[in-house]
Amino acid sequence: MEFNLTEEHLMIRQAARDFAQTELLPGVIERDNEQKFPAEQIRKMGELGFMGMMVSPEYGGGGMDTISYVLAMEEISKVDASASVCMSVNNSLVCWGIETFGSEEQKKKYLPDLATGRKIGAFCLSEPEAGSDATSQRTTAIDMGDHYLLNGTKNWITNGNSASTYIVIAQTDVDKGHKGINAFLVERESEGFQVGKKEDKMGIRGSDTHSIMFTNVKVPKENRIGEDGFGFKFAMKVLSGGRIGIAAQALGIASGALELSVKYSKERKAFGTEIMNHQAIQFKLADMATEVEAARLLCLKAAWLKDTDGDYAMASAQAKLFASTIAMRIATEAVQVHGGYGYVKEYHVERMMRDAKITQIYEGTSEVQKIVIAREVLK
Ligand code: CAA
Repeated sequence: MEFNLTEEHLMIRQAARDFAQTELLPGVIERDNEQKFPAEQIRKMGELGFMGMMVSPEYGGGGMDTISYVLAMEEISKVDASASVCMSVNNSLVCWGIETFGSEEQKKKYLPDLATGRKIGAFCLSEPEAGSDATSQRTTAIDMGDHYLLNGTKNWITNGNSASTYIVIAQTDVDKGHKGINAFLVERESEGFQVGKKEDKMGIRGSDTHSIMFTNVKVPKENRIGEDGFGFKFAMKVLSGGRIGIAAQALGIASGALELSVKYSKERKAFGTEIMNHQAIQFKLADMATEVEAARLLCLKAAWLKDTDGDYAMASAQAKLFASTIAMRIATEAVQVHGGYGYVKEYHVERMMRDAKITQIYEGTSEVQKIVIAREVLK
């Protein structure tokens, strides 16, 4: 068993850290306050190769492994979870989904722009009445011969207004249940495509979350991903990988909150000494460091399984369940370590506490992860 990272992994992690500290940190509080999408920063992340890390160089990507992606996601998420959710959706759900299951024409057409961040992708599965219960799709795509006619509404779509390419999951045959669901590549310019209201969220406020409406949108037949009826399995497979990205995001929020707590405890004095000298603080930091390390190992194990063609559905669910749980706990503890300063925006940890919550909700709630894990345990 090898726990050491390679030279290349270390370089990628350092590059992500440098970018996060120099380009994302200045302005992160303002973007959160103003709900401003980090468009310029995402463009630069694309130029540096962070938007299509695992895409093959043949299609404009970095050709990196999932371990590199986890390392970069952790560093970006330590500073700006709004930028990292955009990165995660684009890498794991959109680029990986197209490269793994798309046709050669789809890969050539969509990946070069998506993998370099010239364009951004979105993944449209959730609906007003289909969140955890992903088989209950109300959006329909009726087969019209040479095209499908798409109608319906999707909710809580990350990158909703900044994306150009949307993967849309829709019901094509109600009688077939989940086997009558398909996934389509839909372009923003399509007639009948409409970006709906922007969500005013508790956290990840710099990320751009919208509802999307489709009214008689004509989707060419060649834009269906995979065989007829593959859409639900496509969504599940893509989400299994996506959960590694969100687990790494939660890990980053947790390790970022720990780093800030260590720094603050060395600076802040109370009862005549730096607060790091009080056992009450030391015990908190020890718990935080242990939980961060355990989450990191789960994330890296899931990534390693994916890179070595192992079955990673359970490992990614476990990584996401655990990392999101400890992210919420550690961010809350970080506010406690900072005391009154933790409750104001300037010290970042209150934003981290708000940002951490979403990692227990999107790409499957913690309860959904437990369903996935329990099914494997009971097999
Ligand atoms: N890989 C491959 N196939 C899978 C699979 C996987 N990981 N999981 C399920 N399947 C297959 C099953 O084998 C089954 O196929 P067969 O009928 O041929 O055997 C089929 O899919 C249906 O599976 P289930 O019966 O398990 O389906 P279910 O309805 O019971 O699903 C569930 C249960 C796990 C809760 C699932 O609905 C789920 O994951 N829900 C959560 C959805 C979700 O994560 N939404 C997030 C939205 S995207 C997002 O948040 C992005 C963002 O903005 C950040």
